[in-house]
Amino acid sequence: MTMAPVEYEDIQGLVRFGYRGMTQAVFLLLRVTDARAARAWLAQAPVASAVTREPPPATALQIAFTSVGLQALGLPQDLVDGFSPEFLSGMGGDASRARRLGDLGPNDPACWQWGGTPETVPHVMAMLYAEPGRLEDWGAEAMAGAEQGFEQLAMLTTSDMDGVEPFGFADGISEPSIDWQRERAAKDVEREDYTNLSCLGEYLLGYPNEYGAYTDRPLLDAARDPGAVLARAEDAPGHADLGRNGSYLVLRQLEQDVAGFWRFVDAQVHGDPARRKQLAEAMVGRTMDGQPLMGRASEPIEGEDDPRNTFTYRDDPAGLRCPHGAHIRRSNPRNADLPPGPGGFVSWAQRTLGFDADALAEDLVASTRFHRLLRRGREYGPGVSLPDALAGRTPQAPTGLHFICLGANIARQFEFVQSAWLAGLRFNGSPGESDPLIGTHLPRADGTATDSFSIPSADGPAHRVCGLPQFVTVRGGAYFFLPGLRALGFIAKGTP
Ligand code: HEM
Repeated sequence: MTMAPVEYEDIQGLVRFGYRGMTQAVFLLLRVTDARAARAWLAQAPVASAVTREPPPATALQIAFTSVGLQALGLPQDLVDGFSPEFLSGMGGDASRARRLGDLGPNDPACWQWGGTPETVPHVMAMLYAEPGRLEDWGAEAMAGAEQGFEQLAMLTTSDMDGVEPFGFADGISEPSIDWQRERAAKDVEREDYTNLSCLGEYLLGYPNEYGAYTDRPLLDAARDPGAVLARAEDAPGHADLGRNGSYLVLRQLEQDVAGFWRFVDAQVHGDPARRKQLAEAMVGRTMDGQPLMGRASEPIEGEDDPRNTFTYRDDPAGLRCPHGAHIRRSNPRNADLPPGPGGFVSWAQRTLGFDADALAEDLVASTRFHRLLRRGREYGPGVSLPDALAGRTPQAPTGLHFICLGANIARQFEFVQSAWLAGLRFNGSPGESDPLIGTHLPRADGTATDSFSIPSADGPAHRVCGLPQFVTVRGGAYFFLPGLRALGFIAKGTP
């Protein structure tokens, strides 16, 4: 069957472009004070689409909503309820979610600067991107009049660290490649080879995902959209699709203790600079300049042409080249083997998809194509040089990452990766360890320590680095919906 072409003009540009060249960015977290005025502002907001232009634009505005934001803007409750349960309850909304995401201790939503209590959950996020020197003037122009409908809850500024995150590692290297042409057969079959190509429906609602299914989203009887503002659903004739061309956007403000990180690593190697770098790189899984510890694969990888990403872990089952617990091996285990279990589809689904509590508590190296994230984050704060970090000189202002990822299913993508692979204590049979970079390393309820990082060794037991402190602290977070432009128009129009 030939698939309808993708409507780039209806998709917000962040999904396709990432706006890396627009090195200035600010994220405004807003709350609705006057729904009518807020909708009037949204209706005229110059939101940039995913259409390519020559010359490319120098600025871009993107708009996203939380579920309470959609309610505050007057979207009928039955339509809001059509979004996914995790979007509806929000990131900081309940204790069980907080536990699963590792939002405990210093990460507890009660301590967040925003997003952790009902009064501090943003309604709308305006994301402003610009080429150097353009942000201030253009931003003021783009946001003109917004104050009539919104109050500002927080302004998240960002810094351009030239492709390096605050610990000093090259970032933004590995990304899934999206099947914009809609040529990839979307069906639920087990695949043996790692592929970097993902179905469009993994990132945008309204298209088939890697299971060959359409993710649930609000569909409404076409009679409720008489002007046909919305696209019609591909899979439900006679229905207007509020989700189509939209994506869920996860935002987490992650403060990084750069001095704490480098001083800890330095102490482990008694100040030896070469071994310090080596240990830090083992924790990440890449060298500081972005080369994979695995080297390159001999076989090409579908959907991948960056030589820094043409590798899998197939030839390193023991984790001798890249430790199993390294951040990039946890966050995308690529071709890693399925966890043990009996044959058959039900067992396979339970083991790989995390539907089964026992499987979650077991080994969680799963079929990665269901758990990819499109990362769109930005660094913030002044950054810290290595000499300053080693000397314990911390910057005046906090520094870290505004982690952002896009996906059509928050539970299966962000929450799974965060909870099962990064915060989880049994990843790949690890002995009670979480991600060395972003784990809380808090003891378990029974007091057992979880603050180690194992580096397997060919000639003896693994070398265990113990006593890892927490290097990354969550300061805020929320789940947003980044609508397609027609859906944005529908929300802005309001319902009589
Ligand atoms: C402050 C916190 C974090 C830091 C410093 C950090 C750092 C890095 C670095 C240096 C890389 C390697 C560069 C690259 O492949 O692009 C990377 C990759 C990655 N990170 Fe993080 N990260 C952080 C938080 C997170 C979180 C919260 C998630 C997901 C929940 C995540 C998911 C990923 C993924 C999926 C990759 C790509 C892995 C691959 O495909 O090989 N990261 N990160």
